[in-house]
Amino acid sequence: LDNGLMRTPPMGWLAWERFRCDIDCDNDPKNCISENLFRDMADRLAEDGWKELGYVYVNIDDCWSSMDRDNNGRLQPDPKRFPGGIANLARYLHDRGLKLGIYGDLGTHTCGGYPGTTLDKIQTDAQTFADWGVDMLKLDGCYSNASYQEQGYPLMTKALNATGRPIGYSCSWPAYQGGLPPKVNYTLLGEICNLWRNYGDIQDSWDSVLNIIDWFFDNQDVLQPAAGPGRWNDPDMLIIGDFGLSLDQSRTQMALWAVMAAPLFMSNDLRTLDSSARAILQNRGAIAINQDPMGIQGRRLLKEKNGIEVFWRPLSGSASALVFFSRRDDMPFRYQTSLKQLNYTTGVYEIYDVFIEKPMPTLKDTTEFVVSVNPSGVVMWYVKEWICEMFQAIVPCPGI
Ligand code: GLA
Repeated sequence: LDNGLMRTPPMGWLAWERFRCDIDCDNDPKNCISENLFRDMADRLAEDGWKELGYVYVNIDDCWSSMDRDNNGRLQPDPKRFPGGIANLARYLHDRGLKLGIYGDLGTHTCGGYPGTTLDKIQTDAQTFADWGVDMLKLDGCYSNASYQEQGYPLMTKALNATGRPIGYSCSWPAYQGGLPPKVNYTLLGEICNLWRNYGDIQDSWDSVLNIIDWFFDNQDVLQPAAGPGRWNDPDMLIIGDFGLSLDQSRTQMALWAVMAAPLFMSNDLRTLDSSARAILQNRGAIAINQDPMGIQGRRLLKEKNGIEVFWRPLSGSASALVFFSRRDDMPFRYQTSLKQLNYTTGVYEIYDVFIEKPMPTLKDTTEFVVSVNPSGVVMWYVKEWICEMFQAIVPCPGI
């Protein structure tokens, strides 16, 4: 969507995967969906170095609203859990340089059974969100059918635009239509939404992450061209720092979400995050790759019989990202290849290992090298072509 927003994939925090529909503030006050939870996360983003890296959205998901609209037909937050109201919460975030996202559902009810946005309520709800100072809307699609969605999602684009407030727009539409053509029209989605959920919900397990990875790269011929500045495929939240992933699996999620140019919405507890999860989520190389200004989504290049897969994303400045991923379950696998075998053109390349955070020996396209890839882990490289003419006076150009 060409609204000037989200020219690189949005980054921040989203409540759903980690905190779900916990509304029991009496017994679970620290974890229930309430203004306190979002304030807590905002404090962490602002004070623990996240904001500076680009993690600026704090996004409310389902179960925030009251069971009824107010007398003017407007949505209202649950008064017990959001006593200060959403506008106040937005102000709290804006004061800290952060942005607020909210959740709605095109249909009779949200997935969690709260009031939905029916076609006749689209304008009202867009205006309410704008009045509150909301910066992003995730519009889910429970309790509506294909023709309803075909009408509703573009109407919300118009309604948000008409408010005059810049509001990023995340559409769950394709996820409700199987994520693939002919039912899903990615040209249209790119025109009306800033990002869209293509596929099912992520859960706190490696199984779930792997299933998502496979679906997105199996369908890359359809999905990859759909992405670009202002329009992103969304494979769902980062679950790094939760309970389901090992260290290597966490790196794999970070690496492949970066290659996919995916929105980086963490759904974890930033108050108790351990240092290894933090290091992965705050890895500058992975973030820079994710946020590359060209905004070209990457692809899977190879699926080897030995269980190694290779992924590639072109980056600005004659650079690219390479990810070697192992599906094996025995031991670190020594994978031998050369850049030439990975379609790199004749030249010399500088290599930076993203998770080791160190430069590696420079490679000619023809140089055979070995990477050791851990089970369910990755090796991620930032690769930059070495322009020999620039240094010819000091180092002779290699014989190419
Ligand atoms: C759907 C969405 C999830 C979450 C829940 C909330 O399942 O896909 O991301 O928003 O609804 O009920």
